[in-house]
Amino acid sequence: MSQQYRIGFAGTDARTLLSAQVMSTAASETDSASYRGVVLRGTSAMPVLAGPEWFDWPVDFLSTAENSTQAYAEAIIQALNQGSLDYVLPLPEALQYGGIVDLLRDSGYGDRIAGLESEAAFIEGDKAECKKLCWQAGIPVADDWEVVDARSFPQFFAVCLDFLHRFGGVVLKYPYSASGKGARIILDAWEIKEVYDTLLADYKKDYRKMFHNRPWPLLIESRMSGVEISFTILVDGEGNFRVLPTSLDYPERYPGPAGKGNPITGGMGSISPHPFESNELLDMVSQRIARPMIEALRDRGILRPCVLYPGCIVSFSHDVEQGARPLDLRVCEFNIRPGEPEFQAVVRRIRNFGALVRAMFQSRLDRVEPEIREDQIALCTALVTGPGGPDGQKGYPWSVTKYEPVEIDLKYLKNKNLQLVPSGMGYSEERGLYSDGTRVAYLNANATVGPDQERGPVADKLANRVLAAYRSDKVRVVPREDAQGNRLDLREDIGSHFALADAILAAARQG
Ligand code: GLY
Repeated sequence: MSQQYRIGFAGTDARTLLSAQVMSTAASETDSASYRGVVLRGTSAMPVLAGPEWFDWPVDFLSTAENSTQAYAEAIIQALNQGSLDYVLPLPEALQYGGIVDLLRDSGYGDRIAGLESEAAFIEGDKAECKKLCWQAGIPVADDWEVVDARSFPQFFAVCLDFLHRFGGVVLKYPYSASGKGARIILDAWEIKEVYDTLLADYKKDYRKMFHNRPWPLLIESRMSGVEISFTILVDGEGNFRVLPTSLDYPERYPGPAGKGNPITGGMGSISPHPFESNELLDMVSQRIARPMIEALRDRGILRPCVLYPGCIVSFSHDVEQGARPLDLRVCEFNIRPGEPEFQAVVRRIRNFGALVRAMFQSRLDRVEPEIREDQIALCTALVTGPGGPDGQKGYPWSVTKYEPVEIDLKYLKNKNLQLVPSGMGYSEERGLYSDGTRVAYLNANATVGPDQERGPVADKLANRVLAAYRSDKVRVVPREDAQGNRLDLREDIGSHFALADAILAAARQG
């Protein structure tokens, strides 16, 4: 029998469990090794739902004493010492900020963990410093950007007015860790003061803690127009890399542009591939972003096996045959871990996930091509806590009610080929499955697009399957005040961009 590699995924969200599940089940056409996915920590609902009475997934779980970087490191080192783990991929960026890679390195296991050391974690953890790095490395970013002192409204006002005049919009970024919620957009001068006040109210405490009376860095970027596309890049220790399939994130709480009543969330859903993916685009991201970033990491002596996830704004030009061709791309965010929920849609389309992750650790990525289900589309829809509750909570991402029971009709989901992945969900003997009030679970659905089919109708059918399950309460969080109700909410437009892109590209081709 071939050797089995045990690959750990450290974290507590759905991408952690799903990565482990795909690690154990994906079947490569070229690699005969066997892989077992291990969840490091997870949530209390995960081993129950992945267990034999529910999904029966071939996944193992390792607990940690608590949710701290130190506790993760201790559990990983113990498992490596015992031989019950071969390699580990930390998923939440906080573990890299907290120095999990440094701790493993100091224990002699630096070659068993992916990710950057804490001194390099600024690439995601300090957006202003990362912007400087990209700029120095020749990686395309927003046309103009400034770091101002957030305590000075006059300075802030002047830059906003200038960018509004020259670019038609301004993007403000609290540069440090903000769970994806630190970006604000200003589209006209009337909004400047109000957006400033809200941003300061949200981050004043954090700024004060970090900088006291020194300047409070705030990144201001000129607004970019184009199509936002998420890329996931696996990098090995020699600097070889592979760009995985693209995805489209749905970060706004509701359909339509982000704004005061429509905040940016951690992600309400994702699809893969991005409807505008092409080989030309993948080459462009390789040449213009992956290569220069890897060289910059090498030059600074901080290159390691890692996952890079640049979010980019892509511009297109009209092409008579293809409808549109990528013209240019610019980085709007750089992350050092797989996206949530983008990675869920991406990973389900990879056949040789195990071989790729192993090659990342063994510096052989140049020899392992991704095996992608090119004919498949994947949808991932978040089921989040909706409004209502004892204090009139507004629901995710605002205030949420917690600890309400979760009910799942497993037979229905299986029949409809829908995959449920728990996220903000716990389990206890006395409560059973319960919601923790955030993004409670995700529903994943994949479909093959036949040679004579368009992606749009296939995606619409998948989306309708997800909506039907939700509307008929096949997954339910039971509200305290209404035993028949369902606290869960979702975005109904996840997947609709395939049909939209089909229509645009078809019309452009006829032109
Ligand atoms: N979905 C956005 C992120 O993972 O950063």
